[in-house]
Amino acid sequence: MHNDIKEILYTAEDIRARIQQLGAMITRDYQGKSILLVGILKGAVPFLNDLMRSIDLPLCHDLMELSSYGDRTVSSGTVKILKDAALDIEGREVLIVEDIIDTGITLQRALKHLGSRRPATLRVCALLDKPSRRRVPIKPDYHGFTIPDVFVVGYGLDYAENYRELPYIGVLKGERQ
Ligand code: IMP
Ligand code: MG
Repeated sequence: MHNDIKEILYTAEDIRARIQQLGAMITRDYQGKSILLVGILKGAVPFLNDLMRSIDLPLCHDLMELSSYGDRTVSSGTVKILKDAALDIEGREVLIVEDIIDTGITLQRALKHLGSRRPATLRVCALLDKPSRRRVPIKPDYHGFTIPDVFVVGYGLDYAENYRELPYIGVLKGERQ
């Protein structure tokens, strides 16, 4: 285990097994259709990579990046779109793939933006859900794990751009919240 990590919440194996289940659910729910996965940079990259290979449907993927709002605990509520999804999403079955939903502000912005481009359906698959910190009423259609109010890193999730490469999800020593 990395020296800065206090506790592992989900091992690489836990994550792998849960993503298999999510992929099976998505495959069943979208049977007969093709889907467009839109991953939110940068945190969702490992999740998107594994999730797309656990879905047994024709699919495409695209990427979108939104600005974070600086100090996460004091949100200005202004989230900018830094990189838009390039593919045409009108009439498509769009599934947003996100690493974690915390306050929900980032996802709300992504939903509003992609929703305005007239997809046939627009749903959300988040690996982690931290409902205790929610500030806008948003719920993922699919989620991997519900976590308490702790700051986690690994498997794409960062603290100041570090730890994204860890294969597991863990709690940082001396975590900020
Ligand atoms: P929200 O807009 O507050 O829901 O925040 C979403 C974004 O904040 C996520 O996409 C992450 O990049 C980041 N974030 C929220 N909680 C954590 C955490 O516990 N660890 C790492 N990043 C987090
Ligand atoms: Mg993120």
